[in-house]
Amino acid sequence: MNKEAILVVDDQRQILNTFRRLFQKDYEVITAISGEEALKELRRQTVAVILSDQRMPRMDGVTFLTESLKIQPDAIRLMITGYADIEATIGAVNQAKIHQYISKPFEPDDLKQIVKNAVDRFRLLKQNNELQARLLEANKQLKSEKVELQKQVEKQLDLGNLIGNSPEMLKIFKLVRKVVDTPTTVLISGETGTGKELLAKIIHYNSNRKNKMFVVQNCGAIPDTLLQSELFGHVKGSFTGAVKDKIGLFESADNGTIFLDEIGDTSPALQLGLLRVLQEGEIKPVGSAVTKKVNVRVIAATNRDLQNEVKEKRFREDLYYRLSVFPIVLPSLKERREDIPDLIQFFLSKYTKRIGKKVTGIEAQAIQRLVEAEYPGNIRELENEIERMVTLADDNGALNCELLSPRFKEKIITTELSLPEHSNLKKAVEHLERAMITRTLKMTKGNVLRSAIKLGLSRVGLHKILKRYQISAEQFKERELR
Ligand SMILES: Nc1ncnc2c1ncn2[C@@H]1O[C@H](COP(=O)(O)OP(=O)(O)OP(=O)(O)O)[C@@H](O)[C@H]1O
Ligand SMILES: [Mg+2]
Repeated sequence: MNKEAILVVDDQRQILNTFRRLFQKDYEVITAISGEEALKELRRQTVAVILSDQRMPRMDGVTFLTESLKIQPDAIRLMITGYADIEATIGAVNQAKIHQYISKPFEPDDLKQIVKNAVDRFRLLKQNNELQARLLEANKQLKSEKVELQKQVEKQLDLGNLIGNSPEMLKIFKLVRKVVDTPTTVLISGETGTGKELLAKIIHYNSNRKNKMFVVQNCGAIPDTLLQSELFGHVKGSFTGAVKDKIGLFESADNGTIFLDEIGDTSPALQLGLLRVLQEGEIKPVGSAVTKKVNVRVIAATNRDLQNEVKEKRFREDLYYRLSVFPIVLPSLKERREDIPDLIQFFLSKYTKRIGKKVTGIEAQAIQRLVEAEYPGNIRELENEIERMVTLADDNGALNCELLSPRFKEKIITTELSLPEHSNLKKAVEHLERAMITRTLKMTKGNVLRSAIKLGLSRVGLHKILKRYQISAEQFKERELR
């Protein structure tokens, strides 16, 4: 380790010499014959310890040490005083930040020990300061990384990433905008893969709770007692295996949002607990006699018909009413086929980025097949298909029908757009017109204006063609009740 420097200040040369002899083996010794000279030295060089006499002509020890604070605040200050000076200097100790004063006469060994302690203290403080600075720096970095991550998450969960331009989805957007910033309970229903969880996340991350926790619990996947303890917590000894108190998700998500998936799968006991949260804003940990207040927004999801579950007495009616204050029904993909091309593009860019492959696009015929397919697994199924196609695609190639899974390929052979053989051009054009118009009407569920826009025609123009081919838009209107 480098020798630390110590500065000794005294108006008598021989005392300075004594100090030099005493310390030069262990430290770099700097001497000064007056306070003024010592201040000059301090401007020149960093020292660990300053050892000064009190009685000096012109500038006394306390004045000098006070001044030295401005130049080297971290040095450890020691002062030597005659017995008679103690009274006078004792008040100045704080002002000059004197660490210790040494009264004359002193034993050289004692002085050596005092200086050694002071140097050790200086080193420790220095190390401590460095560590603090590093910690501060690391913290700053962590903070900025966290902010960056948060920004990324928010960007991903921007309302714009819920893809959809169909009237069904526009209705959903309108509902979502109304409800985001309220504490209102939301019940999302929809078939599997329609985006219930994604929507719940989007609601949370666009709400004023976004800086608090978003927690997810699937209520269908675990045994009832475990689920109760997950959600509400438990006290030690409340059941076998409860070896210590546990905080439940409702408590950890305080001021945030909890997403309860498969809410239809809950037991009567759990339903009672949920009712207490929604009605009273209180939870009761398993095995505890006392309740706790929580402020958590609940978003629940189900792919069951909850109303029917109520009718069948499998679901508490009072809880159903509490949950369904603000219901959102996500349409199945077949109800909004016109969103499929946008979804394809969205997933295409998602997976080319993720897989790190350059794909130039997707061929029109492949899009068409995907638009017409059946999707029992809804968006998740479409997403998986695109991921698969991107994985199989050649680098720098386009996605084409060859890459489709067999299930999607089969359908297509019978597509209305395949050209009839041996027909003349006029017949072929007519066939194509019919096919495209039928498909678009199917997509828009018989809406003539929207079909016309999609086909690049005027409304009147489309009506004329419909008349010519005797196609009725009525037959595409949705009859089933939702
Ligand atoms: N509108 C959408 N735009 C883009 N991606 C979507 C959209 N809806 C759903 N997805 C994606 O589809 C997949 C399935 O969505 P999610 O898991 O939210 O469905 P779910 O309704 O919760 O399904 P399940 O009932 O099976 O749990 C996810 O990868 C999600 O990101
Ligand atoms: Mg889900």
